[in-house]
Amino acid sequence: MAAADLNLPETSEEREILLYSFYRDAELRGSNLLFRLLQRIADPEAQVLLSEHLADETRHAWLWTERILELGGTPLAILDGYQARIGKLAGVPRDPVDLLALTVVVEQRALRRYQEHMKRGGISERTLEVLRAVSKDEGWHIDWVRKKGRELALASGNPERFEASLERFREVDRVVMNELEEQERELLGA
Ligand SMILES: [Fe+2]
Ligand SMILES: [Fe+2]
Repeated sequence: MAAADLNLPETSEEREILLYSFYRDAELRGSNLLFRLLQRIADPEAQVLLSEHLADETRHAWLWTERILELGGTPLAILDGYQARIGKLAGVPRDPVDLLALTVVVEQRALRRYQEHMKRGGISERTLEVLRAVSKDEGWHIDWVRKKGRELALASGNPERFEASLERFREVDRVVMNELEEQERELLGA
């Protein structure tokens, strides 16, 4: 897989391929957080929800991959995307409560990126279809992960931990998005 050249590509197809490679990367790295959670939360209800959630995220990654193929490209390796930057700044937590908080923050960010994209004009019908498909699962993802995070924090005797962790990751998310926003705006403006 070729690494993404972070100079703004020349053609609109190339710009789309780069942007969807960013989206695909975020979906795959989100899946990776869920794998970690599967290993760390044993309760059967969470195992069921995590399995369905993971199936959704890997499908989202496939939908972007498919869209990239339709545009005549192949996915670009994103070495310095949203989640890689989050990881560099915050580290990847080991504690399940922190992992759940990080998952909520990255899911909310993904949803916001897709919603902002949908508001733009001149989007092809196929891209719109993918944006709608990947956005529609986010509601239940965010709800259940938030609920489980609060529940585990309470059970561990530190009920504030989940909210504190959310706040910490939100701050990291803001820093990272400030770095990435300009680049995304250029790509979306294509
Ligand atoms: Fe997703
Ligand atoms: Fe999601």
